[in-house]
Amino acid sequence: MANKNVSVWTSIPFWRRSAAWVTGFATILLIWLTFDTLGQITMGTDADLKNGVDKRVPAATVINYKIDYKMSTKRGHEVPVIGGKQLFFGKEWSAKEAADLLHLGKLTSQAKNCMNCHTLLGNGAYYAPDLTKAWLDPAWQNGGPLQGMTGKNTVEEAMAEFLQHPSQYPTHARMMPNLGITADEAKGLVAFLKHMSSIDTNGFPRNFSKTVDQFKSGGTNAH
Ligand code: HEC
Repeated sequence: MANKNVSVWTSIPFWRRSAAWVTGFATILLIWLTFDTLGQITMGTDADLKNGVDKRVPAATVINYKIDYKMSTKRGHEVPVIGGKQLFFGKEWSAKEAADLLHLGKLTSQAKNCMNCHTLLGNGAYYAPDLTKAWLDPAWQNGGPLQGMTGKNTVEEAMAEFLQHPSQYPTHARMMPNLGITADEAKGLVAFLKHMSSIDTNGFPRNFSKTVDQFKSGGTNAH
C-alpha cells in the first residue's frame, strides 16, 4: 500500500498547477492580442500616406488618393491599394479639412441611421447593399450606370447627387427613401464611404468581387 503509484492524471496538485498556468498564459496572450489589435486598427497619419506606409485604417486624407481593389495572391483575397493623387470634389483636402469632412460624414451616417438598411464594416442590415466597399463599386466608376444616371462626371459627385435624391434614381428592386440629406452632409457621407473602402477588411465583404464580375458580364449589380 505504501508504494502504490499514484497516476499524475488523478493528482489534484497537478490539475491545480495546470489550471494556474493555462489561465496565466491565456491572460498574457489576451493582453498581447489587445495591444496588437489596437495597433492594427489605429488610424494612420497623413505622413504614412505620403511615405507609402501601409495602414489597415488610413488617415482621412486618403480621400485625396485613388483607391483600387486588387487581388492579393499572397493573402487569397482582394485588398485596397492606394494609388496616386486624385482630386475629391475638385480639390485636395488638408489634413484638418479631411478629418472634419469625415467626422461630418460619420455623424450623418449615425443621425440618418444608414445601418438600419445597409451594412457598414460588418455591422447593420442586409435590406440594402453592403456599403463597406460601395465606393469601389464599378457601377459608380467612370461610365458606370449609377454614375451615368446622375449625369455627373466623378464618382463623388454622382454619389452625392444620389444621396440627396435617392428616390429619383431607383436602380435595384428596392428604392432608397429620401432622408433629407443636405449637400454638405452628402459630401461628408461620400468621404466616409471613400475612406471606408480604403480600410483593409481582410477581403470582407466576401461577395464583393463576385458582384463586380456579374456587373462586367452585363448582369445587374445585385449585391
Ligand atoms: C430605409 C432604408 C435605407 C436607409 C436608411 C439608407 N439606405 Fe441607402 N439604399 C437603400 C436601398 C434599398 C438601396 C438600393 C436602391 C437602389 O439602388 O435603387 C440603397 C442604395 C444606396 C447606395 C447605392 C449602393 C451601391 O450599389 O453603391 C448608397 C451609396 C447608399 N444607399 C448610401 C446610404 C447612406 C450613406 C445612408 C445613410 C445616410 C443610407 N444609404 C440610408 C436603403 C436605405
